[in-house]
Amino acid sequence: MIRRADSIRMASNENPFGPSPKAVQAMEAAITECNFYPDNDARELRQKLAAGFRVATDQVLVAAGLTSLLDIICRALLKPGQNAVTSQRSFIVYPIATKAAGGEIIEAPTKDDGFDLEAIAAAIAPGTRLVFLANPNNPTGTLFDAAALDRFVARVPEYVVVIVDEAYYEFAQYFAGQRKIQYSHSLDYVRAGRKVVVLRTFSKAHGLAGLRVGYGIGPADLMADFSRLRTTFSVSVPAQAAALAALDDDAHIQLALKNNADGAESLVKELSGLGYRASLTWANFVYCEVGEDAGAVAKRMQAEGVIIRALGAWGAPLAIRVTIGTPEQNQRFLAAFKRVMERAPIRL
Ligand SMILES: Cc1ncc(COP(=O)(O)O)c(C=O)c1O
Repeated sequence: MIRRADSIRMASNENPFGPSPKAVQAMEAAITECNFYPDNDARELRQKLAAGFRVATDQVLVAAGLTSLLDIICRALLKPGQNAVTSQRSFIVYPIATKAAGGEIIEAPTKDDGFDLEAIAAAIAPGTRLVFLANPNNPTGTLFDAAALDRFVARVPEYVVVIVDEAYYEFAQYFAGQRKIQYSHSLDYVRAGRKVVVLRTFSKAHGLAGLRVGYGIGPADLMADFSRLRTTFSVSVPAQAAALAALDDDAHIQLALKNNADGAESLVKELSGLGYRASLTWANFVYCEVGEDAGAVAKRMQAEGVIIRALGAWGAPLAIRVTIGTPEQNQRFLAAFKRVMERAPIRL
């Protein structure tokens, strides 16, 4: 189907406000230095992240997005005959990267649409080298709290590395403050020398998805192993400059977080009011069961100029994921959704 020129993109959990103006300025300045190769070690960015998170610089690794880092992690830690454990209905790159490295993926069943940490722990076998936990989870928006992760980490055998993917941590932290729970203290495991790697990205709250910058924080020896498998010069000059500047723009982040929390509340309320099961979210998207073929719904939405994600490939053929937009975008989504669903055969 041809995409309308005025389409709005609500399918990939990007920041509807764009990059921070400070990041844009830094990128513009960096453009004139693109005759030079980037710093292969991203030293300044790693130092800044390390200082901000109170870890050592050699515990931080910067890569061209988490997608790339996940690939590196799998290549470093898995060989044929070994496996990685995660949950069904989670981030689609976990199985892709695992299989690309020659490993096998084991997907434990979900519980209440999210991670069942008991089932994940039970699925760990002698051949397991990695566990992937997405917190919050994409595409369902669910979260497990700090105490649940404590219990899980205590059960994991020494030969398994736990990857705690916190791509949406800024949003989750904001919601956790509002909802009065303790979201995560995952970096404490790293500080305590546990085999835990925490993943974060500039693609979501920072609005830099197109630049490709993400990072991992974990044990220094593991990060050195991962670093050897990176593609040389993979994080470009503008990407490093923009990421550094974005870290200094708290106002831009706060704008995105507040808008997101307000948008989440109104979208979930409106969708529930229409009779659909829209889950409480801890991230910047809403998971919603539409009661009919979600692929067909997404196509009808696209014809209306609203691009959303149908979740058939995640084993949820009746569910959609909608990125929370600006208030105007959310209204446009809802108006289009109502029109499109007037033709829907079934309600939940
Ligand atoms: C849970 C999760 N991890 C990682 C990523 C990838 O992030 P990046 O853009 O840094 O590759 C995403 C992107 O949607 C995600 O949802």
